[in-house]
Amino acid sequence: MNKDAVALVTGANRGIGFEVCRQLAQKGYTVILSGRDGAKVEKAASELMKEGGNVTPLTLDTADASSVADAAAWIENRFGKLDVLVNNVGGNFDADYLTSTVSMAYAQETFELNVLGTWRTIQAMLGLLHKSSHARIVNVSSGAGAFESDIAFGLQKMGGVAPTYSIAKAALTALTVKFAAELQGSGMRINAVCPGWTATYPGSEAQGARPVAEGAAGIVWAATLPDDGPTGGFFRDGKKLHW
Ligand SMILES: NC(=O)c1ccc[n+]([C@@H]2O[C@H](COP(=O)([O-])OP(=O)(O)OC[C@H]3O[C@@H](n4cnc5c(N)ncnc54)[C@H](OP(=O)(O)O)[C@@H]3O)[C@@H](O)[C@H]2O)c1
Repeated sequence: MNKDAVALVTGANRGIGFEVCRQLAQKGYTVILSGRDGAKVEKAASELMKEGGNVTPLTLDTADASSVADAAAWIENRFGKLDVLVNNVGGNFDADYLTSTVSMAYAQETFELNVLGTWRTIQAMLGLLHKSSHARIVNVSSGAGAFESDIAFGLQKMGGVAPTYSIAKAALTALTVKFAAELQGSGMRINAVCPGWTATYPGSEAQGARPVAEGAAGIVWAATLPDDGPTGGFFRDGKKLHW
């Protein structure tokens, strides 16, 4: 069944996005591995192709509206539809910045990276997703943007640090709820997922971060939900987070 299913992952040339591509390819999906740097996506896709995956590289900069529109046109032309969209692009974990002093330029950059890029990408891909009978959207968010569920990184746990990342991820989870409400009845499932603290930078696994394959697995779970699966929720490892 998955042989005909097409999945697009953003920011996938490294880290969690790359691993999500690997796991979706292992499940038989046709995977579009995208990123903002053409050379990096070519290299990453060829690595997964060597592992036997059906993986196609695509240059897609979520900060650039014309790049996103070009990507949607390319997918339309090549595949005619999209079954899975994983909005993985994100970052600027600003643990060295305080809410009272962080610059508004940095706040804008973090919102662009974590919220607006994903919003823009969903808008551009929605027509293609409506052509699938089992479309799934996953927004990669974080417990840093939750009030209750996150024991270490939540909004009330880190004092004033990591302000722009936490608030942007809260907005991304809210965006997920709004899209789910609008898409109710369409059959589409859209959820936010926190991968947990995941070892995507050197030394982090020794500090306690989980292996990348584990962080990615919860995203793949939401990308492959059955038709009666949840929508508009926030999950980690397939379990609901109260945010
Ligand atoms: N790692 C964690 O512990 C953790 C925890 C909770 C949530 N998350 C979330 O999980 C997601 C992935 O995290 P990660 O640790 O794997 O991140 P990462 O290693 O920093 O990778 C980020 C990826 O996004 C790409 N990217 C950045 N801006 C882009 C743009 N405008 N257009 C297209 N691609 C862009 C990067 O490309 P370049 O290589 O070109 O820079 C890179 O491929 C993020 O949303 C993050 O906030 C991570």
